[in-house]
Amino acid sequence: MLAQINMYLFAVWTAVSQWPINLLSSTSPFREIFTVPASADNGALLIPNIQDPQAVDVQTVCPGYTASNVQTNDYGLSASLTLAGKACDVYGTDVESLSLNVEYQSAERLSINISPSNVDASNSSHYILSEQLVPRPSRDSDYKSDIKDHDLQFSWSNDPTFLFTVTRKSTGDVLYSSKGSVLVYEDQFVEFVSSLPENYNLYGLGEHIHGLRLGNNYTATIYAADTGDPIDYNIYGSQPFYLDTRYFEVDSDGKKTLVTSTATDPCKKYESYSHGTYLRNAHGQEVLLRPENITWRTLGGSIDLFFFDGPSQPEVTKAYQTGAIGLPAMQQYFTFGYHQCRWGYKNWTQLNEVVETFKKFDIPLETIWTDIDYMSQYRDFSNDENTFSVSEGQKFLSQLHANGQHYVPIVDSAIYIPNPSNASDAYGVYTRGNDSNVFLSNPDGSQYIGAVWPGYTVFPDWHSDESVPWWSNEMVQWYKDIQFDGIWIDMSEVSSFCVGSCGSGNVTLNPVHPPFSLPGEPGNIVYDYPEGFNITNSTEAASVSAASSSAASATATATAILTSSSTTPDYLRTTPTPGVRNVNHPPYVINNVQGDLAVHAVSPNATHHDGVEEYDVHNLFGHQILNATYQGLLAVFPTKRPFIIGRSTFAGSGKWAGHWGGDNASKWFYMYFSIPQALSFSLFGIPMFGVDTCGFNGNSDAELCSRWMQLSAFFPFYRNHNVLSAISQEPYVWASVTAATKTAMQIRYSLLPYLYTLFHAAHTRGDTVMRALAWEFPNDPSLANADRQFLLGPSLMVVPVLEQGAASVNGVFPGVPTTVWYDWYGQTAVSAKAGENVTIEAPLGHIPVYIRGGAVLPTQAPGYTTTESRKNPWGLVVALDAQGSAEGSLYLDDGESITPESTLDVEFRAAKGSLKVQMEGKFEDTNALANVTVLGVEGCSGSVKLNGQAVTGAKYDGESKVLSVTGLEDLTKGGAWKGGWELSWS
Ligand code: NOJ
Repeated sequence: MLAQINMYLFAVWTAVSQWPINLLSSTSPFREIFTVPASADNGALLIPNIQDPQAVDVQTVCPGYTASNVQTNDYGLSASLTLAGKACDVYGTDVESLSLNVEYQSAERLSINISPSNVDASNSSHYILSEQLVPRPSRDSDYKSDIKDHDLQFSWSNDPTFLFTVTRKSTGDVLYSSKGSVLVYEDQFVEFVSSLPENYNLYGLGEHIHGLRLGNNYTATIYAADTGDPIDYNIYGSQPFYLDTRYFEVDSDGKKTLVTSTATDPCKKYESYSHGTYLRNAHGQEVLLRPENITWRTLGGSIDLFFFDGPSQPEVTKAYQTGAIGLPAMQQYFTFGYHQCRWGYKNWTQLNEVVETFKKFDIPLETIWTDIDYMSQYRDFSNDENTFSVSEGQKFLSQLHANGQHYVPIVDSAIYIPNPSNASDAYGVYTRGNDSNVFLSNPDGSQYIGAVWPGYTVFPDWHSDESVPWWSNEMVQWYKDIQFDGIWIDMSEVSSFCVGSCGSGNVTLNPVHPPFSLPGEPGNIVYDYPEGFNITNSTEAASVSAASSSAASATATATAILTSSSTTPDYLRTTPTPGVRNVNHPPYVINNVQGDLAVHAVSPNATHHDGVEEYDVHNLFGHQILNATYQGLLAVFPTKRPFIIGRSTFAGSGKWAGHWGGDNASKWFYMYFSIPQALSFSLFGIPMFGVDTCGFNGNSDAELCSRWMQLSAFFPFYRNHNVLSAISQEPYVWASVTAATKTAMQIRYSLLPYLYTLFHAAHTRGDTVMRALAWEFPNDPSLANADRQFLLGPSLMVVPVLEQGAASVNGVFPGVPTTVWYDWYGQTAVSAKAGENVTIEAPLGHIPVYIRGGAVLPTQAPGYTTTESRKNPWGLVVALDAQGSAEGSLYLDDGESITPESTLDVEFRAAKGSLKVQMEGKFEDTNALANVTVLGVEGCSGSVKLNGQAVTGAKYDGESKVLSVTGLEDLTKGGAWKGGWELSWS
């Protein structure tokens, strides 16, 4: 141990020279300031299997299985699978005997489960995901078996070894087939393969920064990692679900032929069929998408597959949520207002200045957030008394709340462990947790001690029954001091800045700084700017470039001195030992972004209360802390919907929380990636999604921030967040951004009733909120990869500019000519041909937005806050389709209760020159109706009646075909939705 400490102290010495001046103040008495050295986060040198030239392909050496003892029942079948030859034991020990269980669980869901036959609690070499942690979908109680008629048909064969297929009965299309491959099932490695059609369309498999359509040359690694949004690697969340969409050409006889290209012939007719596949497995895993097949490899667990037959994306997503993972949480109304955040707000005074500056510029601000800056020495549930004192905070928050605004602080996942030899370092949150025994352990039973922002830390063990009550209680106690309105959960992968229990035996060393320099510290100055910054800001760019190259050359010299000459890498390759798993270095190496599984994360051998190793449940920490926080918020606000935004998620996290896209950067390409990331989270059942608008890492600039503030205004979760020490990027910093933001916010806030209604549909039915074009226009193969534009709900399409320097954007108008699209601003129908790429003028400050013909959109005059907006008069935009019809709905309640006392559902139906409005429910809204705007009206004298009574404020413009009816307030005094009404025009 001494040697270990000495090594640390040596590292302190080398690291100290890079520290900020204040840590080395010449006035403080000398003490060796300890920090965990960077090297403590180095793992073993590993080569990912998919890149390893020496890797053995299990398909060539493993025997597969033979099915026997097949027994059918009313809902499926069961069978035994036994190894069909000599064990191959390539990446683990082969499991001799498996059980197959096939169950038709509902009219749309088929379950296929393959697990070791002899798994019990005492068999430590195979962990099967507990149903307490992730509920297993079970057969619907009212489901009457219809195996013969089910659209998903399971079949199997032993030729040459066990294989199975899932076929769609209605089309004869094979959705899944393991033919041509062997099943490999070892204690630390499971592989199953299915062939796929040429040029398949798969979506999902998160969390990754990748285009929406995954393509056929991609490995989706699923292992929760704390890492700043690298493209194509595993990042924070684990979402083992994919959507598979198949397009068919339909000939005049109705014959369907699978289409393998997205090139579409406008003269031909197409149809699509989608199904979903969920692997209920929380182990580290990767999914290899290759031209002819999909290979799933997991580091353990069972093959617990669920197929959802669709056949449309909305049906797949609904069935996935209602039948497997749960429906997303309903959000409070305020959460759809604008959120401002940054790492680096220094104190309440500065926070107040930010709030006031928003007001000064009249930019709506609903919620102000604080990052770890507010904490006392980065300790959860504590405030720095010098900068964010409780007393000052209470004054600030009571004023903020009086203004109808809100506050959300960050809460980190790790808990500071105080120095036991320094009584003044005591930390109640730790003491209470320790007393209740709620932290993760080492294999020998001692406490597992890693390192995060506060120094050495411990980690809540969500398998302990005491952990949620302890966490809730900490939230309740802290709320007495700081009246927050929601919680932001960070570092929940779960992140730790060193490999293993690096604090064991070292806690008295009190590290004071993370083992890397923070943004803004010497050696880590933020010089980075968006692409094209040198074009738009040439003088500033030149001086930045001079400063950054001199810093770079200094770093290069230092690195050259420190690094030794290169040698051939000596990769660690492990081999299986029968009956014993190597959890820290499993023989199969997934392509983890951090390499070694233990790097920047709690190590796989950390142990939970029930004896489960972190290896088996690593991907669930982020999911479980969201549950704990949800319970905590319920303890604080028993009747209110908890508002949580979390970083690491698993299948089903949406029932508790929303998610932000993590540490992106102020780059144009990250703005683009925000769209496929959001759409993927629609598929994962986490609709409350948004990214760090204007970019997190690096400095933003006016052009990027202007475009991004406008784009994010159409995402459900709308927040601007920035890294420590990057230049400010609140929307008031640049005049052009202020103007662009206000324009987009006007639209967003006027559409809040529409957004809220969409969320209610997501929460109650499993509808998506942000939608891909392909999902709304399923019979157009050319849209299979469209992810540079999107729809918000069914009726609003956004075509953002995603490129620096552009003043126009190419967009498609799906569904034309059958579908009519109206420009939001000009209110006239767009003229576009089917499949045409239309160049849309979009100078800086303008975001193209279109309304789909056939929609009735409820609007409300925007106020400064959502509370104000909710007191404003109503409006309706009726966008007629080609037949002159439209429909829509509005859902209202008190905006915050879990079980609202009363609700109101309003239905709008327009046809043949009249709009009929009907309602159900008792929620009282007293705002009058101000206006109705009808788009696409063919010929009209301008005579308008409300319930038969002539309305005076109507104007019809024959050229634009817009009928504007204003001045309805008097006629709807006391509330627009008090009783049914009809507006007619002729
Ligand atoms: C990592 C988070 O992803 C980021 O949003 C936050 O600013 C930093 N941690 C500091 O708390």
